[in-house]
Amino acid sequence: MANFKRKYPLARLRRLRSTKSIRALVAENKLSTDDLIQPIFVKESLKQMEEIESLKGIYRHSEESILKEIEDLVKTGIKAVAIFPVIDNDKKDEKGTEAINEDNFLNNVIKKIKQNFPDILVIADVALDPYTTHGHDGVLNSDGDVDNDETIKILRDQALKLVQAGTDIIAPSDMMDGRIGVIRKALEEKEFKNTLLLAYSAKYSSKFYGPFKDAVESAKFFGDKTKDTYQMAVANIEEALHEVALDINEGADIVMVKPGMPYLDVLKAVKDKFQMPTFVYQVSGEYAMLKAAIEKKWLGDEVMFESLLSFKRAGADCILTYAAKEIAKNL
Ligand code: PBG
Repeated sequence: MANFKRKYPLARLRRLRSTKSIRALVAENKLSTDDLIQPIFVKESLKQMEEIESLKGIYRHSEESILKEIEDLVKTGIKAVAIFPVIDNDKKDEKGTEAINEDNFLNNVIKKIKQNFPDILVIADVALDPYTTHGHDGVLNSDGDVDNDETIKILRDQALKLVQAGTDIIAPSDMMDGRIGVIRKALEEKEFKNTLLLAYSAKYSSKFYGPFKDAVESAKFFGDKTKDTYQMAVANIEEALHEVALDINEGADIVMVKPGMPYLDVLKAVKDKFQMPTFVYQVSGEYAMLKAAIEKKWLGDEVMFESLLSFKRAGADCILTYAAKEIAKNL
């Protein structure tokens, strides 16, 4: 701890800021490609990759173009990607049945990625929203609410199919109670002892996910339609710690806070309290805001790096960010 008896002019903190070199030497936090995970969208039946309007520089990839994209990412030194599928509308139903089809689009894409790039870590979400007509992360009961215990059985089966396809890191993003334990138990039983579980533990019911829903062409959640009965209330932080504790006890290897910048306090609290590998998701709305302001030249493009370094300072071990590739290229 600094000696606070020392006063000006003995203490001149500007000495340590006086040149670029000394600033580098005393930097408390650094960002490297090892800290970055690129989320990638891949769309079924798509011929040519298409840019997502609200996520400048980010594309819906075809089965072919995603391989080229991963090749580029590997060259930058990025070690992990999170793959999000956009599923044909005629394959969606109320129960998200296509999620547990071992021959579904995403499982086939993952197999191809792992055949071509065995070293890249593939992360896949466990949640039903890409597969349901209503866009919820689980199946609905007769009241129209997501049925927790029915949903986690389906999520368990979805997770097993993803692992069989070659997924390295299973990332339940659904916020059902008890899902980490159920998935961990199933993985143990099937001898998938080394499959990693990255739990979206403190996932808030946030409006910052808007552009993601455009990207995956999922049902819109505005007005009364929300995920408030399963995703966390924005007002709460103690509850976030409770969620993280449960997920660790149920067998999570890594915990995650999401969104990122509006929730740096949560990220710091989680890291300080549990000292577990802790990831953060800089979500689509955060990226879109920064990109829009950069495009208008209201902000310089260094803000993206600044936002990512702030996650490191708050305690993140790794960051899921749409800016991963562009930042990795400049590191
Ligand atoms: C699906 C999922 C969402 C995001 C990641 N996985 C959307 C949601 O829960 O509504 C959001 C990511 C982003 O906004 O970048 N469960």
